[in-house]
Amino acid sequence: MPTDKSIPVITIDGPSGSGKGTISRMLAQELGYHFLDSGALYRLLALAAERRGIALDDEAALVVLSRELDIRFPAASDSEQVLLEGVDVNNEIRTEAAGAGASRVAVLPQVRTALLARQRNFRQEPGLVADGRDMGTVVFPDAGAKIFLTASAEERARRRYNQLKEKEMNLVFEDVLADIEARDERDANRTVAPLRPAADAALVDTSELDIPATIECVRYLLKNHLNR
Ligand code: C5P
Repeated sequence: MPTDKSIPVITIDGPSGSGKGTISRMLAQELGYHFLDSGALYRLLALAAERRGIALDDEAALVVLSRELDIRFPAASDSEQVLLEGVDVNNEIRTEAAGAGASRVAVLPQVRTALLARQRNFRQEPGLVADGRDMGTVVFPDAGAKIFLTASAEERARRRYNQLKEKEMNLVFEDVLADIEARDERDANRTVAPLRPAADAALVDTSELDIPATIECVRYLLKNHLNR
């Protein structure tokens, strides 16, 4: 089914730890829009591959898997449930290891192409907030409102560390920082859909902003400068 280009899309791209997940979710809830967490798709794909013994660089097998994968994001935007073959795997896909797996499968061009239609199907009435790396550049280039959130690597590592330390007891800050830097490097330098702001995106540096200040800034941009 072709997606309706008249349905509004707000894209929120940026590196991990920029706050885009939280902001996108809040915004979708506030507007009553659907929500696409595209990073979760790559995380799910890596998890499903590992479970089936498929190597994370086996492009042909991953393409087949990404087409047939039974993935659902059930409830409204306030739920964080992510179902893989009917089972909630949200906790499993949010670990650092799952993120690293996701960024490995995400470098494969045919995997990205195979996931395009799946992502575009999220564009449903009354509108969509799409969170990722290439939402404004590749997946929804015609989106009326594009935002690129960023923050320094140290600040993003600090946020990630605070988020993960309760779940991962032996976590070391320097490891989180090194991981963020390695992931940034891979995401920014891959040949297909590298992480970069769309030419028509509004850039917001959240290094010195907390969540309420960031959402305030995003609301201001949507109201005054972006065409939703
Ligand atoms: O956003 P999140 O941290 O969940 O994404 C995990 C990984 O998936 C990213 O590091 C990136 O490599 C990949 N990704 C991507 N394109 C997207 C979303 C995520 O390449 N649109």
